[in-house]
Amino acid sequence: MSRRNLEIRARLERGDEDSIINLLLFGTTFTKRPRALNDSAKIGGPQRAAEIVRGRIADLVAGIVSPGSNERLLFAREVVERRGMDPTTPSGKEQARIYLLGLMTRVAGEVDGYVRAIQSVRSTRGGAEFAVRSSLYRTRGLSSDTSIRPDFAIDQALEAIRSMGMLDAGSVRRVGVIGPGLDFTDKAEGHDFYPQQTTQPFSVINSLLRLRLAKAGDLRLTTFDLSPRVNLHLQAARRRASAGGAYVVVLPRDRDGRWQPDLSRFWKAFGGSIGEETTAAQSPPRGVDVRVVRVRPDVVSSIEVRDLNVVLERLAPLADEERFDLIIATNILVYYDVFEQSLALANVASMLRPGGFLLSNNVLVELPTTPLHAIGHSRATYSDRPDDSDDIVWYRRQ
Ligand SMILES: C[S@@+](CC[C@H](N)C(=O)[O-])C[C@H]1O[C@@H](n2cnc3c(N)ncnc32)[C@H](O)[C@@H]1O
Repeated sequence: MSRRNLEIRARLERGDEDSIINLLLFGTTFTKRPRALNDSAKIGGPQRAAEIVRGRIADLVAGIVSPGSNERLLFAREVVERRGMDPTTPSGKEQARIYLLGLMTRVAGEVDGYVRAIQSVRSTRGGAEFAVRSSLYRTRGLSSDTSIRPDFAIDQALEAIRSMGMLDAGSVRRVGVIGPGLDFTDKAEGHDFYPQQTTQPFSVINSLLRLRLAKAGDLRLTTFDLSPRVNLHLQAARRRASAGGAYVVVLPRDRDGRWQPDLSRFWKAFGGSIGEETTAAQSPPRGVDVRVVRVRPDVVSSIEVRDLNVVLERLAPLADEERFDLIIATNILVYYDVFEQSLALANVASMLRPGGFLLSNNVLVELPTTPLHAIGHSRATYSDRPDDSDDIVWYRRQ
């Protein structure tokens, strides 16, 4: 593997740490303390918020010492041990506490920096903000986090593309999802009361069937990810499916999340074309509704899992009938600078059939040499909170 490829993959470690910070702030399985929500006014001011975070750090360290079968605590322990700490000893416990505190400071500083970067271009000419947003995480760790939100945004984009007659019924047979992600502590609502899961591959299949853009039994989806955690998770799901096992998706909805009605409708209908609704194995925390879907094993088996770094790699030249009709890439290109995004775009273009689509929530620099150009966009609004939306840009292969 090339040095650059190894450097990019090394960013996964920092992404793992970011996931642990989400767990620390929002998780409810290892602590009884209030969730450290972003709005400190809600929980009694900054001092009280700092007290909650300190308590949460102590509880998380205790969880790391005795994780039981909690897969997220086991993962946090693995990350701590990878850093050479032994949380079973008093000094290792103290090191783990200091380490988590340091992570908190790093992540809080980074988040501040992102907010400032966006604010600094707010008042400048149109498009500048979206451009800054599109490369915002270029130096950040590669996180695997995901949630129902981008799934909704892609559903809306596909619906608009179909209604404009840009894709014909039954015309999507091969679809790629770059960076499907793994919901460790749901990044939107921040929950951890259900097993880790991925949703985007299932949601995309569901949307394509619902909109009749694809026919059941005639659709193959390939996931492309460089994270072993994501790839192993999907491979395990496939193994269970080949033995007849369904894949259970758990979708939380905070009652005070102020979701837009369209997002609620999407949540209620999630999975209707690929599985059936079932009841939750774990009861959700107070104030949270939950929708649980068992995805049919044949749907899970239609997913092919590929380890691929889309910035530097592509599938070997594909025969015409093997090319993709549609590729999805949400919340992944934002982790790269403009040069790396251009490389990724060239790799995506080489895998798409002429007329095929790339849907991304990033605005990408279009080079004259890459036959992929923006032909439209759609906006999905998640709640009535400011800026709680995503613009999906529709790129089409010439
Ligand atoms: C933040 S998650 C986004 C998940 C999901 N697409 C969403 O919108 O919620 C980013 C995903 O992209 C993957 N990823 C990051 N860089 C990648 C690359 N160069 N090639 C392939 N996958 C990549 C990560 O491992 C992770 O699964």
